[in-house]
Amino acid sequence: MEQAEIKTYTKPQIGLHNLMALLIIGLYLFGLALESFDKSVRPDYINIHKLGGLAIIALLAIRFVSRLITPPPAMPATMGPLFVKLAHLGHYALYLLMAVVPLSGVFMSLYAGRGLNLYFMQVASPLVENKPLAHTLHEVHEVGANLLAALVVGHVLFALYHQFVLKDNLLYRLSPRGK
Ligand code: HEM
Ligand code: HEM
Repeated sequence: MEQAEIKTYTKPQIGLHNLMALLIIGLYLFGLALESFDKSVRPDYINIHKLGGLAIIALLAIRFVSRLITPPPAMPATMGPLFVKLAHLGHYALYLLMAVVPLSGVFMSLYAGRGLNLYFMQVASPLVENKPLAHTLHEVHEVGANLLAALVVGHVLFALYHQFVLKDNLLYRLSPRGK
């Protein structure tokens, strides 16, 4: 009964959050594993990683529009104004890195002169090759991905702290059984 009074995100927002969370965690671990694959199969796996990353960019654009149309529900009343501000700041930082990491991946690849294999057609890089810039973007991609991973760990710890210590049932706001 009590759960019905908790404000939740909408079903599409919940679906997007959970789908993107799974995809990003998968892409991060897959990205780390890329180095260990044999040279003969590595380009194929890198291509799969790139396609997954492009899906994140598309989903992020949809999420951005959906957030403009339906703003997130107000934070639980138990949270003081400072913590509400900090939570918003953390969420904006997550959004920023969710854009910077895949976009740096795209431009790193394009400036390295590598296109994309869509399986039914090959897309060549439209940019003039620039190895030093590709190298810098690789650094941004790697450092950005690690920062995103650290932020996600903090984000999950905060969510669990809310759920099990403050007991305000924060996770229900993102549960598929929500609104
Ligand atoms: C790659 C993994 C993840 C990313 C990038 C991510 C990102 C985000 C972002 C950006 C928001 C803010 C939504 C908004 O108000 O616009 C959010 C909210 C939330 N996330 Fe995640 N998340 C991830 C994983 C998780 C996991 C695994 C959990 C569960 C333990 C979780 C629990 C929550 C909760 C409870 C909220 C709602 C907070 C509130 O109502 O203010 N997230 N997440
Ligand atoms: C949220 C999405 C993404 C995450 C979390 C992610 C994460 C990672 C991680 C952790 C690595 C290993 C570290 C490194 O060597 O750089 C990596 C490598 C790589 N990523 Fe991503 N990535 C994402 C999206 C993309 C996209 C969209 C592209 C390109 C279209 C891309 C292209 C690459 C390439 C080419 C490598 C291998 C670099 C090399 O060692 O040669 N990534 N990614």
